[in-house]
Amino acid sequence: MNVLLLGSGGREHAFAWKITQSKKLKNLYIAPGNPGTALLGKNVNIDINDFEKIKNFCVKEKINMLVVGSEEPLVNGIYDFFVSDEQLKDIAVIGASKKGAMLEGSKDFAKEFMRKYNIPTARYKTFSLATVNKGFEFLETLKAPYVLKADGLAAGKGVMICENIDTAKATLAEMLNGKFGAASQKVVIEEFLTGIEVSMFILTDGISYKLLPEAKDYKRIGEGDKGANTGGMGAVSPVCFADDTFRQKVCSQIIEPTIAGLHAEKINYQGFIFIGLMNNCGEPYVIEYNVRMGDPETEVVFPRLDADLLDLFEGVATKTLGNKQCKTVEQTAVTVICASGGYPDSYKKGIEISGTENVNESIVFQAGTSICDDKLQTSGGRVLAVTSLDDTIEGALKKSYESIAKIRFQNMYFRKDIGQDILNYKK
Ligand code: AMP
Ligand code: GLY
Repeated sequence: MNVLLLGSGGREHAFAWKITQSKKLKNLYIAPGNPGTALLGKNVNIDINDFEKIKNFCVKEKINMLVVGSEEPLVNGIYDFFVSDEQLKDIAVIGASKKGAMLEGSKDFAKEFMRKYNIPTARYKTFSLATVNKGFEFLETLKAPYVLKADGLAAGKGVMICENIDTAKATLAEMLNGKFGAASQKVVIEEFLTGIEVSMFILTDGISYKLLPEAKDYKRIGEGDKGANTGGMGAVSPVCFADDTFRQKVCSQIIEPTIAGLHAEKINYQGFIFIGLMNNCGEPYVIEYNVRMGDPETEVVFPRLDADLLDLFEGVATKTLGNKQCKTVEQTAVTVICASGGYPDSYKKGIEISGTENVNESIVFQAGTSICDDKLQTSGGRVLAVTSLDDTIEGALKKSYESIAKIRFQNMYFRKDIGQDILNYKK
């Protein structure tokens, strides 16, 4: 089949890598892609939110399947655009409908959904500028730290955790007065959850689902989980504290009620759900839903997936996912992000990258890279995700760090403590 994949990050490089292993693939196109995806398929210079251009391309190239990597086109309704268009309606779209994408696109919607379907999550209330005083009162009923979330998409920056009540009140007022533009016209205030975070992923056709390998993300820029939040500086799968009992609870208390809720609300959902969870003394609570795979989590989840991804996607499109095979590789996967020095604040771009060709024990997924005069250079904050598989986490980490030692670019930064918490947890 002919597949068009939307996106340009390390996640999409990992999608392209897994898709090209499928027996069912004829041609793979990636819009806009990156130099990594160009090694696996054909990059096409189309913006992921330009639905008309995407349409013309799909018609011209006889695309059979659209795989949506990032949330934005989903929140903007690309699924609905395809199913309601005469020329596109037979193309399988792997991704949530516009209404389904509100699980990520609106925190208020997601929280109300969880409340309605008894899905464990932090206690919350939502406020607007008109009810700001009620918001201050609600804050008084909670204990520090205070969690404030912009309702809409805010490029991963819309969650504020405030250490004291005065900062929390000031932050609430700032947010409602436009700190994140339209995204913070409404603000969700919720109870602070304690425990250890883990990300779980499913692929669903709206009826049944496949539980994919779980992962742990390292969100902070600094070692020991210090410093600013980033898109993620590394990931590990499996995660030892997500044992069988915990996974069972996640399935029965969270995933199954989520799918039943989507069904009850008549929301079409044929794609991935990424559930950010807090494990509090063995009990799972939802921190957030995302309607896509994680980045860099995909770079450890897909290498552990023993399945033909396009075969699974076909099952999603025809609502026969329940009949498909999807196994997990026992080995451990780790990925370490090589970032531009300065990220997540300002950093230089256009710095030459060398040495990736010398890596043979790891997979180098490209994220913020571009080609200039035939040379690979940096073009973003997170530049490369260096993934390794091994029988042990120690072995996988050793491979990734040895591979990184072969890669050079000026001001390259990476965390040296990826997976250390899991190693210590085991001891
Ligand atoms: P989100 O964008 O919703 O994933 O939130 C970003 C990060 O904020 C999460 O990964 C958590 O580390 C933290 N966070 C969000 N909500 C809560 C909560 N209710 N309690 C504790 N930490 C939270
Ligand atoms: N790594 C977190 C995310 O993709 O949202």
